[in-house]
Amino acid sequence: MKLSLIVAMDERRLIGSMSGGLPWQGIERDREHFRSYVKGKALLLGRKTYEEMEGWLDSDHRPYILTRNRNYVPKTSARVAFSFDEVIRLAEKERESELVVCGGAAIYERAINSADLIILTILHTTFTVQGTPKFFPDWDTKKFNEISRQEFAPSEKSDFSISILHLES
Ligand SMILES: NC(=O)c1ccc[n+]([C@@H]2O[C@H](COP(=O)([O-])OP(=O)(O)OC[C@H]3O[C@@H](n4cnc5c(N)ncnc54)[C@H](OP(=O)(O)O)[C@@H]3O)[C@@H](O)[C@H]2O)c1
Repeated sequence: MKLSLIVAMDERRLIGSMSGGLPWQGIERDREHFRSYVKGKALLLGRKTYEEMEGWLDSDHRPYILTRNRNYVPKTSARVAFSFDEVIRLAEKERESELVVCGGAAIYERAINSADLIILTILHTTFTVQGTPKFFPDWDTKKFNEISRQEFAPSEKSDFSISILHLES
C-alpha cells in the first residue's frame, strides 16, 4: 500500500494552529487540487482534522480516523484506529492501494518517515495564526526526489505565487 501525504504550507511550513483551522481563507487553486487528488480515496485524518472536515467528506471518501480515545464515535461513517501501526494494518486489510494522509500536524509528524509520496502545496508567503502554530515536519530531502512541479503566478485570486510539488521516496 502506498502512503501519501498531502499538505499545503506557507514558506515557514506553517499549516494550522492548536485552536484549529487553516491560517488562510480557502485558496481556490489548492482546494481544487486537494479535492481532485483525494477523490474516491482512503484518507487518514487526525481526530481534530476529521472534526474540521467531516461536513466536507463525500460518500466516495473512505476516512480512517486516528484517536487515542477508545470511546470515540465519529459522526459520519469512518473507520477508527488507536495507533498509526493499527491504522496501517487496518487499511492493508481493507486492501486499500493508497492511504492519503490529510493531517493534521500530529499525523504528518508520525507518518512522514513512512511516506512514499509527499504532495506539497507551497504558498509563497507567510501567514500568522492566533495561538500556538502548527507546522509541517521537516523531511529528509536526500530521501525524496522531486518528480513533478507546477508553478502558478500571483493572480487576482491570490497575491502570492503557488508551487505544487510531488516528492517521491
Ligand atoms: N495546511 C494543511 O494542509 C492542513 C491539513 C490538515 C490539517 N491542518 C491543520 O492542522 C491543525 C490540526 O493539527 P493537530 O496536530 O492539532 O491535530 P490532528 O493531527 O488533526 O489531530 C490530533 C489528534 O489525533 C489523535 N492522534 C494524534 N496522534 C495519534 C497517534 N499516534 N495515535 C492515536 N491517535 C493520535 C489525537 O486524538 P484524540 O485527542 O482524540 O486522542 C490527537 O489529539 C489544524 O489547524 C488544521 O486546520 C492543516
